[in-house]
Amino acid sequence: MKIGTPLTSTATKALLLGSGELGKEVAISLQRYGVEVIAVDRYPNAPAHQVAHRSHVIDMTDAAAVKNLIAAEQPDFVIPEIEAIATAALLEIEAAGGCTIVPNARAIQLTMNREGIRTLVAETLGLPTSKYAFATNFAELKTAVDSGIGYPCFVKPTMSSSGKGQSMVKNPEQLESAWNYANEAGRAATGKVIVEAGIDFDFEITLLTVRALNENGEVETHFCAPIGHRQENGDYRESWQPQAMTETALRLSEEIAEKVTTEIGGLGLFGVELFVKGEQVWFSEVSPRPHDTGMVTMVTQRQTEFDLHVRAILGLPVSTTMQFLGASAVILGGIDKAAVTYTGLDKALAIPQTEIRLFAKPEAFVSRRMGVALSVADTITEARTKAVKAASLVEIQ
Ligand SMILES: Nc1ncnc2c1ncn2[C@@H]1O[C@H](COP(=O)(O)OP(=O)(O)OP(=O)(O)O)[C@@H](O)[C@H]1O
Ligand SMILES: [Mg+2]
Repeated sequence: MKIGTPLTSTATKALLLGSGELGKEVAISLQRYGVEVIAVDRYPNAPAHQVAHRSHVIDMTDAAAVKNLIAAEQPDFVIPEIEAIATAALLEIEAAGGCTIVPNARAIQLTMNREGIRTLVAETLGLPTSKYAFATNFAELKTAVDSGIGYPCFVKPTMSSSGKGQSMVKNPEQLESAWNYANEAGRAATGKVIVEAGIDFDFEITLLTVRALNENGEVETHFCAPIGHRQENGDYRESWQPQAMTETALRLSEEIAEKVTTEIGGLGLFGVELFVKGEQVWFSEVSPRPHDTGMVTMVTQRQTEFDLHVRAILGLPVSTTMQFLGASAVILGGIDKAAVTYTGLDKALAIPQTEIRLFAKPEAFVSRRMGVALSVADTITEARTKAVKAASLVEIQ
């Protein structure tokens, strides 16, 4: 692997499609290896824009806009950070050669639509998932639920993330409003929803899985210690590493993650979401990129999930070793306002072995993630308590 000098004709260039808090950390990691970073988002001054060599504002669902920008910038790597991207453009760019779509264009296409990845994992690979069906109208949804999926179930737009348009349906009376909500909130409305049987899990994990080259140039799969997390309204609030689990459940989780990521292919880090009950494990979904719950690795691992992604992409060796037990707790906006100010960092950082990351988003919304508190401790309980406390001490005005 050869790396050039940024801003010269030898530069190794990476273009980030999506410049949120996860993209910002990927950009910082790329910068550390001397890669020229071009950050793209749909609005100006997004978090990664602020740490990149250059930035652009485009509609990333517009195929022509994506193609024109990539043609003008000629990056070596295109690193998607969000799901809502004109994937047809990425397939074309990949086919033309000369630039790596991370991990590959098919992965981006498969995972942006729940139908693609679910069908592949459950039907082609035959791995355990919740029972599910797809519906394009309310009658189909009702029939699917009545004929086996039952209650509680989850209704989700086939294209959405961060819990948008998603509802847990406990009884038949709630089904119609779930259908309406999924249709209104679904990104780039596909007009299709997935309904999944509710899994009564003991806990859920993100298994960060890395496909990277070893010294012989062969792809090897590595796993980080499992990350436990707590979700509210389909969005994560707290995560911790490691999540305690049985040997059997961990082995099953790694087997599932290995099969799914091998099928997807390419180099990089993946966030494999799994549900665990006793020694049973179900696949839920996978992100072909760093995962929000994986922000905890900024304090628990020597190579964070962002470093691992970057090193894998660049063909460099990786180590997923965990150094400390830790936890993360998100800091939500709590207010709809631009150019907010933050206070209480002094109090939050007085908690030992605690860090705060502010994402510096130009505008806050009530439930927009604006920062994260990260703590390490001797036990997970203590780390969680400290991170939650630190997050609560940061005030946004
Ligand atoms: N079938 C299910 N059974 C039990 N819980 C579920 C099920 N589907 C979703 N959930 C709960 O809702 C959360 C969000 O679901 P999911 O990951 O599918 O949504 P998402 O919009 O892709 O969220 P994100 O993008 O933040 O990962 C899960 O982490 C889990 O807590
Ligand atoms: Mg999820």
